[in-house]
Amino acid sequence: MKKEYIELYNEALKAMKNAYVPYSKFHVGAAVLLSDGKIINGFNIENSSYGLCNCAERNALFRAYMEGYKKEDIKALLVIAKTDRPVSPCGACRQVMSELMEKDTLVVLTNELGDYRETTVQNLLPYSFNGDDLNV
Ligand code: THU
Repeated sequence: MKKEYIELYNEALKAMKNAYVPYSKFHVGAAVLLSDGKIINGFNIENSSYGLCNCAERNALFRAYMEGYKKEDIKALLVIAKTDRPVSPCGACRQVMSELMEKDTLVVLTNELGDYRETTVQNLLPYSFNGDDLNV
């Protein structure tokens, strides 16, 4: 793990341990780094009605927005799960990242082993559907 990501990584790891995952038992954590230095984390929260499960990435981003932060305040999003490779965010989270984060914002994908992969919102979801397509 890169030194500069350690604090963010530890916050995501802490969140991951609290994940509410009675069905999948698959723990995911996420942490958003803000330009004022604050870190907001999140974990996945499942539901017996499976379609209502909400991923760690979305919960962390929604928390940041609920606290009044906007896309320009987000410096990075880090995600962690117990995967062999750095975790790959689901399609729904990629779409939400593309809505709530700037295209070139750093996304760091990690796992419990400390492996990491640096990418961006744009790389995770090229040619994304967005508000411009709605002519709003
Ligand atoms: N999950 C996440 O939290 N983030 C991802 O990017 C992939 C999937 C969650 C959703 C569900 O609670 C569990 O992992 C299994 O899909």
